[in-house]
Amino acid sequence: MATVVITGANKGIGLQLARLYAEAGDKVVACCRNPDGADDLKALEGDIEVKQVEVGNDASVAALGKELEGAAVDVLINNAGTVGPAMDQQTLTTLDTDGWLDAFNVNTIGPVRVLQALMDNLKAADGAKVMTVTSQYGAMAFDMPAVYAYSTSKAGVNKYMRMAALELGKEGISVGLVHPGWVQTDMGGPKADLTPTESASGIKDVISNMTESGFWKWNGEEHAW
Ligand SMILES: NC(=O)c1ccc[n+]([C@@H]2O[C@H](COP(=O)([O-])OP(=O)(O)OC[C@H]3O[C@@H](n4cnc5c(N)ncnc54)[C@H](OP(=O)(O)O)[C@@H]3O)[C@@H](O)[C@H]2O)c1
Repeated sequence: MATVVITGANKGIGLQLARLYAEAGDKVVACCRNPDGADDLKALEGDIEVKQVEVGNDASVAALGKELEGAAVDVLINNAGTVGPAMDQQTLTTLDTDGWLDAFNVNTIGPVRVLQALMDNLKAADGAKVMTVTSQYGAMAFDMPAVYAYSTSKAGVNKYMRMAALELGKEGISVGLVHPGWVQTDMGGPKADLTPTESASGIKDVISNMTESGFWKWNGEEHAW
C-alpha cells in the first residue's frame, strides 16, 4: 500500500486519480483548496484524507508539510493547475500580466512548493515518484502559438522538474512530467477527446511504469521536450 499525495483532487483529472488510487487500496492524501465544497471527493470510498491546500500560497503548502511530518510519501502527483487569463487576454499582443503571474504562481511555483515541502517525506519512502501534470503546450517542441500565459507557465515547470530529476534521481526519487491529453474537465471542456477517468487511468499506469525520469503522454508514449 502506497501513500499518494494528489493536488487539485476535488474535480477533473485529480478527482479520478484519487478514486483510482483509493480503489487500488492505496492511502490517498487528497489536497484541494476548498474541502467544504468537495462533495464528489468526500463521497469517494477508501483510505482518503482530505487536506485544505492552496498550491499558490507558501503558508498553505508549508502547513501541509507540517501535517505530514514524519510520514513517508511514495507518490506525489502535482495536478492542480489553472488556464490563467481569458483566452483573448493571453495572446501575442494582449497579455493580462497579473493573470500571467497568477498562472505562473499556480502552475510553475505550485508544484515546486509542494515538492520542497514534502522532500523529507519523499526521501523517507523507498523509491518515491513525483509526477507533475503538465501540458503539451509547455513543450518547446509543440509549435502552436496559443494561451501564452498558460503555455509559458507549463514550460517553466517542465524545466524545473527536468533539472530536479537529475538531482533527485541520485537519491532514488524519480521525477516525471505527463501530458494528460485533451480531457473533458472544466478546463478541457465537453468536446475534449478523453474522459477524466481515461486520462487518470493512463497517468496512473505511466507512474507505475516510471523507473526513471521523463516526459510522457497519458498513454505511455514519450513526449518530445
Ligand atoms: N483538461 C485538459 O484538457 C488538460 C490538458 C492539458 C493539461 N491539463 C492539466 O491537467 C491538470 C488538471 O486539470 P483538469 O483538466 O482536471 O482541470 P479542472 O477540472 O479545472 O481542475 C483543476 C484543479 O486544479 C485546482 N486548482 C486550480 N488552482 C488552484 C490553486 N491555486 N490551489 C489549489 N488548487 C488549484 C482546481 O481547484 P478548484 O476547483 O478549487 O478551482 C481543480 O482541483 C492541470 O494541471 C491542467 O493544466 C489539462
